[in-house]
Amino acid sequence: MIKFDEANKIFHLQTKNTSYVFGFLKDRFLVHLYWGKKLVSEQLDYDMFLDYMKYRRNMCASDYNDIRLSRDCLPSEFSTFGNTDQRTPSFHAVYKNGSFITELSYDSHIIYKGKKPLKCLPATYVENDDEADTLELTLKDELTGIKVVLSYTAFNELDAITRSVKVINTGADRVRLDAVLSAVVDFKDNDYDFIHLPGAWARERHPERVSLMTGKQIVDSARGNSSAQHNPFFALVKKDTTESMGDAYGFNLVYSGNFTAGVEVDPYNTSRAFIGINPFGFEWQLESGEEFVSPEAVLVYSDCGLGGMSRIFHKLYRTRLCRGKFRDIERYVLINNWEATYFNFDEEKILNIAKKASEVGVELLVLDDGWFGKRNNDNSSLGDWYVNKEKLPGGLTQLARKVNELGMKFGLWFEPEMVSPDSDCYRAHPDWCIHSKDRIRSEGRNQLVLDLSRQDVCDHVYNSLYENLSTVNISYVKWDYNRTMSNIGSALLAADKQGEFFHRYILGLYSVLEKLVAEFPDVLFESCSSGGARFDPGMLYYMPQTWTSDDTDALERVFIQYGTSMCYPYSAMGAHVSIVPNHQVGRTTPISARGNIAMMGQFGYELDLNKLNENEIEAVKEQIKTYKKLGSVFHSGSLYRLVTPENGNFVSNEFVSEDKNTVIVSNCVMRAVPNSPVYYLKLQGLDVNAVYLLEETGKCYGGDILMSAGIPYQLTKDYDTRILVFKKQ
Ligand code: DGJ
Repeated sequence: MIKFDEANKIFHLQTKNTSYVFGFLKDRFLVHLYWGKKLVSEQLDYDMFLDYMKYRRNMCASDYNDIRLSRDCLPSEFSTFGNTDQRTPSFHAVYKNGSFITELSYDSHIIYKGKKPLKCLPATYVENDDEADTLELTLKDELTGIKVVLSYTAFNELDAITRSVKVINTGADRVRLDAVLSAVVDFKDNDYDFIHLPGAWARERHPERVSLMTGKQIVDSARGNSSAQHNPFFALVKKDTTESMGDAYGFNLVYSGNFTAGVEVDPYNTSRAFIGINPFGFEWQLESGEEFVSPEAVLVYSDCGLGGMSRIFHKLYRTRLCRGKFRDIERYVLINNWEATYFNFDEEKILNIAKKASEVGVELLVLDDGWFGKRNNDNSSLGDWYVNKEKLPGGLTQLARKVNELGMKFGLWFEPEMVSPDSDCYRAHPDWCIHSKDRIRSEGRNQLVLDLSRQDVCDHVYNSLYENLSTVNISYVKWDYNRTMSNIGSALLAADKQGEFFHRYILGLYSVLEKLVAEFPDVLFESCSSGGARFDPGMLYYMPQTWTSDDTDALERVFIQYGTSMCYPYSAMGAHVSIVPNHQVGRTTPISARGNIAMMGQFGYELDLNKLNENEIEAVKEQIKTYKKLGSVFHSGSLYRLVTPENGNFVSNEFVSEDKNTVIVSNCVMRAVPNSPVYYLKLQGLDVNAVYLLEETGKCYGGDILMSAGIPYQLTKDYDTRILVFKKQ
C-alpha cells in the first residue's frame, strides 16, 4: 500500500512487514524519513523522524529557508550534485553551458495499483495489480528542463520495495548524464556491518562481513559483466544481527553490467547506501525529448536477520522475476559432458555417456563446448555456430535424435557473445568485436567479445541461435560468457557516445535474450559465465537458472552455494555431481556428499557415468529418485540456514514447504571432530502445534519440540551428509 499525506507531503510505502517513508520537507527538500519495521500510526510528521534544526546547530542556519543552510547531512531521498549535500550523488549531469548543477523540486506524482514493466530492462513484475502499488514521483529542474521520475513499487505480500529512475530531457539542449544511480538510502547512524559477496573464478560469492568505516566502502564492476569478483548485492546489518535475529537491509541491482554498490559514512555518523550503474565508464548523451531509464534496485528489510532477508529475495525472484514455463515446474535432471570429455569427444563418446545416463534416470544430455567450427581446444571457432562434422558426422540433428531415442532431451552449449580471431566470423567481420581503433585487441582465452552495442551484431547473434534452435530438437541452452571486456570501444559509436558503450552492450544483450526466450518458450535457458561470473537478477529474468560455479567440489560448493543463497534462491543455482579427485581442487569426497549438496540446486551430473563402479551407480539412481521426490521443496520451500559453514565443521540447511507439510534438513559434516559433543539442531519455521514424523526413523516430534529443544546430531566422519525428511501428520 502507498499512502500520501497531502498536508505534510509525506509518502508512506507499506509492505506486509515494512514501512518506507519520505516526503517534501517545507515543500522543498525531498528527505528520507524512515525504513524499517512496519509503522501502523496514521499520523506521521517530520519531527518524529527528523529534528534537523535542533541537532544541526553548527549549520549556521536558523530555519530551512535560511540561505546558509547546509544539506550535507540532511537525509536525502534523491541527491544531486551542486548544492550543499556533498555526499555521493544519486544523479550527476553536465549541461550545455558546462554547468553540472542540478536542483530538483516537486513536479507531480501518481500512485497506482500494480507495476509497469521497465523499458528494455529486466525487472520484477506483478501478475495481478493487487500484488503491489506503485508511486511515480516526478521532480523537475526548472533551469535546465531535466525531469526525474522516481518509481517505487511496494510488493505487499512479498515484502519488498523496488526503485528505479527515469530521466527525461524536456529542455532544448542535449544533456550529458554522468551518473544515474537506481537507489540511494540515507541511514541516520553508522552502527552497521557491511556484508557483500566477493569472489573469483571457481570461488564465487564468499560472504564478507566488515564494520562500516568513515568514508566510502564500495564494491563494483567495470569489467562489462556483473562479475565473479563482486556481486551487485550488499546488506547492512546491525552489529548483533544474526542469521535469525536482528535488522537486515538488503540491496540488489537487477542488472548484468557494470555496477557500483556501497555506503558512505560521513563525519556525523550518517550512512548513505547506494546502488546503480557504475558512474565510472558511464556517460549518456540525452537529446532533447529523450528518456533514460536506470535498472531496478530491489530493497529488502527484515527484522528476522539475514535468513529473513534472504527468504524475501528468494520468493520475489522465484515467483516475480523469473519468467516462463520453467518458473514453476521441476526442471530436468541433466548430464553435461564438459568435465567428462572437455573438447575431446565424438558422437560415439557422447552417446555412450547418454546411454548410461538414460539408464539411471537422467532426463537431459547437454553437449558442452567443442561441437562447432573447428573447435578442438579454446583456440578457435567461437562465432562459427555450425556443427563440426569431423566430430559429429551426422550433425546435431542426428545426435539429438539418437539422444531422444534414449528417452532423453538434448541440450546445447553456446557462447554467443564471443568470437575467436581464428574463425570465419571474425575473418568476415573484424570490426564486429569490441575494440578501439589502432589499439591492441587483447585476446583473453583466445577470444574477443562481440560488440552487442551494434544492432547488426545483435541480429547476427540472434540469427545464429535461431538457426540452431529452429532446426534441431534442442530443449535446453547453456549460454556461456568466458572473458571480461577490455580495450573498450565500438566501431559504430560516435566519439562523443563511446561512453555509452557499456550500457548499450547490456541493452543489446537483453534485447537478444528477450527475443529468443519469446520465440522459444519451450527451451530451458541456463546462464553461465566461466561458472558464476554473471549470477545476477538481470540474467535470471531471461534464464531461470545460472551455472553457479565451475568448482564442482562438494566442500567448495557448500561455501559457494551458501554465499549465493544470501540473495538468490536454490531454484536458480545449477549444481552438478562431478568425478573425484575433483578437477578444480583435487579433493576426494564421497558420492553421497556430492549428490546431497548438489541436489539442493538444479541437479545434474558433470561426468561419464560409465566410469563409476556399481555401488556408485546405485547411489546415483537413489539420488535421482530422492531429488525427484524432494526437488520441489528445495526449490520452492523457505530456506533456513540453521548452521552456516563459516562455523568450521558442520553446515545445516532446512527447507520448509509453503504449506509447512514437508520439512527437509540437509546436513553435512565438513571436518569431523573425534569424540565430539552432541549438538542440538533447532528447526525453524514449522507449525508449532503440529506433529512431524521423521521418515527415516518413523518417530514423531511436536513442532514446538523440534524448534525449541531441537534434534541431536554428532559429527562422525568427514563429508558425512544426511538428509532428514519430516512430514506433518
Ligand atoms: C566455462 C563454463 O563454466 C564451463 O562449464 C564450460 O561450459 C566451459 N566454459 C566451456 O568452455
